[in-house]
Amino acid sequence: MMTGNDSLLRPCLKWAGGKRQLLSEIKRHLPVPFKVSTYYEPFVGAGAVFFALEPEKAVISDSNTQLILTYRAIKEDVEGLIEILRGHKNHHSEQYYYEIRNLDRDTETFNHLSGIEKAARLIYLNKTCYNGLYRVNSRGLFNVPYGNYKNPAVFDETMLQQISVYLNSNDISITNTDFEDAVSTADRNSFIYFDPPYHSPDKKNFTGYQSQGFGEDEQVRLRDVMIRMTERGVKCLLSNSDTGFVREIYRHEGFEIIPVQAKRAINSDAAGRGSVGEVLVRNWRE
Ligand SMILES: C[S@@+](CC[C@H](N)C(=O)[O-])C[C@H]1O[C@@H](n2cnc3c(N)ncnc32)[C@H](O)[C@@H]1O
Repeated sequence: MMTGNDSLLRPCLKWAGGKRQLLSEIKRHLPVPFKVSTYYEPFVGAGAVFFALEPEKAVISDSNTQLILTYRAIKEDVEGLIEILRGHKNHHSEQYYYEIRNLDRDTETFNHLSGIEKAARLIYLNKTCYNGLYRVNSRGLFNVPYGNYKNPAVFDETMLQQISVYLNSNDISITNTDFEDAVSTADRNSFIYFDPPYHSPDKKNFTGYQSQGFGEDEQVRLRDVMIRMTERGVKCLLSNSDTGFVREIYRHEGFEIIPVQAKRAINSDAAGRGSVGEVLVRNWRE
């Protein structure tokens, strides 16, 4: 399923916690490709690892509805999506950005948008907003300010088309659900890569993908899912920040904690950019 060859596909979105920087470390700790039949990525985000591996059979999922409908739009009507994106690019200005951003302030208008219109809005906002963040307020309204880039590359037409061909010519299931539900069908021939919102002991770092946060109780729920998957014989790899809390909850028989270093671009505190400690947690040995 995972060929092990280098893929030409790249994410079409910027996403907090994107794994481009950690790819080589992650690749070093993957299971032997031919021993796995289905790849699961239940916190897929921009899908840096998923696209790098280009599995033939996969379940990708995320609780972010706008993100998942974007993948579905790329799969189902990439040319329609590109046409709308072209319009956004041509009209791009600060005023236009806020017009498109504020479409979700009127629920009825927003609900009437088609899947490809919502997907084009997400891609356009993602490429033109401040720092490529996805952040919504407590009412679920997108609230990232204008990014003020000179010439933002709103979309890469060829990459979108290639992603669409890939999604259509392989067995890829795209779901919008909680991580626990997303991996419920995994079996001993599956491999799961868990990339949750990272644990942040001081709440300073960005974890606000959605109005509901991902606190320590959620980190423990995820750990318990990984224990259950281990008992079921499912190979799992998880990434998280290297904190005392993370090390403590994964201090479990059969888990190997591997420290790695990654460069991070999205951090609410500009001075905090740079190299941060992260860990990979793996539940098998070849
Ligand atoms: C660290 S990001 C993933 C980054 C991604 N792997 C990449 O390379 O860009 C975490 C993702 O988890 C999603 N998420 C948060 N809570 C979730 C939950 N309970 N179930 C599933 N996904 C969730 C967020 O929407 C976000 O896209």
